[in-house]
Amino acid sequence: MRGAGRRQSGVDVDNHPIKSIDWLEKRASFEIRGFRRGLRQTVWSVLNRTGATLNLRKYNNGDRTQVVALWNTVFPDDPPHNEPNSVISEKLKVDDLIFVAEKDQQIVGACIAGYDGHRGWLYAVAIHPSNRRSGVGSKLVKHTLEQLKCLGCMKTNIQIRSTNTQVVSFYESLGFSTEDRLSMGIFIE
Ligand SMILES: CC(C)(COP(=O)(O)OP(=O)(O)OC[C@H]1O[C@@H](n2cnc3c(N)ncnc32)[C@H](O)[C@@H]1OP(=O)(O)O)[C@@H](O)C(=O)NCCC(=O)NCCS
Repeated sequence: MRGAGRRQSGVDVDNHPIKSIDWLEKRASFEIRGFRRGLRQTVWSVLNRTGATLNLRKYNNGDRTQVVALWNTVFPDDPPHNEPNSVISEKLKVDDLIFVAEKDQQIVGACIAGYDGHRGWLYAVAIHPSNRRSGVGSKLVKHTLEQLKCLGCMKTNIQIRSTNTQVVSFYESLGFSTEDRLSMGIFIE
């Protein structure tokens, strides 16, 4: 861009007739400022892409709509007793161990944790499809395990549906290992 927009301290840096030392200094200073601005923008965009703005924290009531939408997206085939709104309400009657991963004020991940004084449990670990494979799930689980550890929990378990084999690598990458157990459950009428 030529003309008034590129005037620096009254000097038209493109059209100045005298190519003096003064002109060169002003031109160099102009270029350096532009370079610094570009560098700042590049660094900021890389930091954003690598998740530097990721916020890991406990769920609060303002998160409900986004967390419900996230779980509905990630677990569309869950049975009615896992309906996210009632899961959140029932959980909050007992404790507040729901954790979220937030990026630019958007909830991109969530999970439920439990600690009964003996073992810890993880449930509904979910990362939005558009944020996968960038470390968000690992950071959320590690954060949650740290919080459980602070409560005195020394071992945490997770149940994985036998059809959901692809997440085994995810938990293995975090140090979980498959244990020789049969999982059983009962609905209490
Ligand atoms: C499983 C899940 C939480 C992983 O979240 P994520 O943010 O993508 O995980 P990360 O980026 O932290 O992955 C860390 C490592 O785990 C492994 N991993 C993660 N997802 C994987 C997949 N689908 N297949 C194979 N390995 C996988 C990789 O080793 C990965 O490291 P890499 O990307 O450098 O190769 C996410 O895929 C998800 O929400 N899945 C659907 C819900 C679900 O099944 N939850 C588990 C219920 S038990």
